Amino acid sequence: MALHQLTSFTLGVPNLAETAAYYREFGLADEGDGWLATRDGGRQLRLVSAPARRLIELRIGVDDADDLERASSRLRRLGVDAAADPAGRTLTAHDPTTRVQAVLQVTPRLKQPVTGPTPYNGPGRPERIGTRAPGVVRTGPVVPRKLGHVVIGTTDFDATTSFFRDGLGLKASDYIKDAGAFLRCSTDHHNVLVLRAPVVFPHHSSWQVDDIDEIGRGAHALLAEHPERHVWGLGRHHAGSNFFYYFKDPSGTFSEYYSDLDCIPEDQVWTPETFEGARGLFNWGPPPPPSFLRPDDLADLMAGSHSR
Ligand SMILES: [Fe+2]
Repeated sequence: MALHQLTSFTLGVPNLAETAAYYREFGLADEGDGWLATRDGGRQLRLVSAPARRLIELRIGVDDADDLERASSRLRRLGVDAAADPAGRTLTAHDPTTRVQAVLQVTPRLKQPVTGPTPYNGPGRPERIGTRAPGVVRTGPVVPRKLGHVVIGTTDFDATTSFFRDGLGLKASDYIKDAGAFLRCSTDHHNVLVLRAPVVFPHHSSWQVDDIDEIGRGAHALLAEHPERHVWGLGRHHAGSNFFYYFKDPSGTFSEYYSDLDCIPEDQVWTPETFEGARGLFNWGPPPPPSFLRPDDLADLMAGSHSR
């Protein structure tokens, strides 16, 4: 029937233990063998050792073998080889530019438990009366509900976008003019964002939390003893509309808490827009630091990619 979920990704990092400790603090559960899990989505991040930080694999859930067959013929038209496993459960292909391995896998759809809306008081609309706000009385650690999206910088923007969109079959939700493609393989506004960059690198991963208070509480906890982890936030994106806060993990890859992302059901007609300038980046919030688009280690990554 369709692609339906960004299931997991594998990130190679040079400092495995330190990076794993960071993601545990970020709220993911350590399941051993490099795997980290969310509350609703299960194992969604695998950390492995690598000479430099690198996105190694993305796994995408599909409904049935017909989805694999269709993706295989689309990829063939692009001149990209794809390998099906004999049981007809997976299809594996590599983006020629970024060398990211994409695995489409027949997987049951994720059914997230319904979480009731957080009551917020508004003008003429008192939703909580005689109580303190839920966001100020919560005491537990912030636990991401699921993986939302992964962002990859590529030196061939058109080819990588085409691999994911025209080959694998992700749908375009919006574009940043000449620089970014927001692509979805679920009802989320985006699950993969392809970014034009001077070197191939993993820009960030993003993780769903319950509401804006959880973003704030998560940021508060992560930054309390490590203010250097702060990258950008709090703000609201324009493309996807979500609230965001970005942090830097010990490998230099950014991780984001988000809530209230645009939802696009399969039967919904959605017309992608192309945003220019600041709109491509955000709607409101503090200005993004220059290191958001050009991370501090980009020159090192470029030097490393030439020597490898
Ligand atoms: Fe993001």
